[in-house]
Amino acid sequence: MSIRARIAAEGPIPFEVFQHLALYGEGGFFASGPVRSSATGDFLTSPEVSPWFGKTIARFIAARSIDTIFEVGAGSGSLLRPILDELGEVDAWAVEASPEARRSLGNVLPGDRIVESLDQLPTGLNGAIVANELIDNLPVAIAVNTGDGWNEHYVGIVGDQLGFYTVDARPEVAAWADAYGGEVPAGGIVEVQLAAASWLAQAIARLEAGVILLIDYGGTVEELEPRRKQGTLRTYRGHHLGPDPLLEPGETDITVDVNFTALEAIARTMGLSTQLHRQDDFLIAWGLRKVISAMKQEELAHARAGETMSQLEIKSDRINAETLLHPRGLGDFRVLVVDVGF
Ligand SMILES: C[S@@+](CC[C@H](N)C(=O)[O-])C[C@H]1O[C@@H](n2cnc3c(N)ncnc32)[C@H](O)[C@@H]1O
Repeated sequence: MSIRARIAAEGPIPFEVFQHLALYGEGGFFASGPVRSSATGDFLTSPEVSPWFGKTIARFIAARSIDTIFEVGAGSGSLLRPILDELGEVDAWAVEASPEARRSLGNVLPGDRIVESLDQLPTGLNGAIVANELIDNLPVAIAVNTGDGWNEHYVGIVGDQLGFYTVDARPEVAAWADAYGGEVPAGGIVEVQLAAASWLAQAIARLEAGVILLIDYGGTVEELEPRRKQGTLRTYRGHHLGPDPLLEPGETDITVDVNFTALEAIARTMGLSTQLHRQDDFLIAWGLRKVISAMKQEELAHARAGETMSQLEIKSDRINAETLLHPRGLGDFRVLVVDVGF
């Protein structure tokens, strides 16, 4: 059913229902079209920038003697491939909502290891659940601070266009905004990440022992507070910020900054310990700076030997690896580690 047909049948729908349909419904951004996370697609992610993202994560996984990997929102397979290259004999599964991405993952894994959603994985898993830039795409409700409570944006038809209707926030939306919104000015906006919370609870429940590694943009409640006046909801298309999310549903990515405090709270409520790192710190701790130094040495050796082509190839690989650490770019992403059953 199209978004307009759904609204015609039901009246205005919560933004999170709209976002779900716009991304994953019929003709949705991830349900149709090419693999979105690629140089020719709509945005470039860490594993698409450099294989050293996956190779460095492989070291983290190897240090825990884990031999099964479940990557959720695995995109083109650009993270799984270097992990498998590095670790050799491990079992791997990909969970991916997009049909085109699942086709692409067929080049990395056998078909029976590629599934559509977390609930299609076996239960009682032992291993690592890894997701890069998944959580920022999970649907959000939009809460607006009235000064003495919360309203919520619903999506309906205004004139003949999609537009926002402001209604009293549903109790679960208001409770989440109270708990994880932080200091919000009157009129300020909180993206309420209930779907992310239930996704993490479901992932934890499926793991008997192992680790969950979630990498994404966002921050803690306090770090997100300066962004509350406008909120963090935005769209991407063709590597640029896109139009208002209501203008061309299905044609743009819709994303928000991930509230890591809320995710940590879910894990801790379930009795688990968590650690939150910046991506640059995490990758450096697992050896990326040393890899980059070794590449520089190699570049120099090739330059001295007059091997210009190979020098330039190594230089390009090195610059891509450095991009993963850029303090105001990918390095500013967060890495959440949740230990399960240790
Ligand atoms: C921003 S892309 C990131 C792709 C890849 N992880 C990367 O870093 O290049 C998000 C991916 O998550 C997938 N996705 C979104 N929600 C999902 C869900 N609930 N289960 C599985 N895959 C999902 C989308 O189809 C898309 O391929």
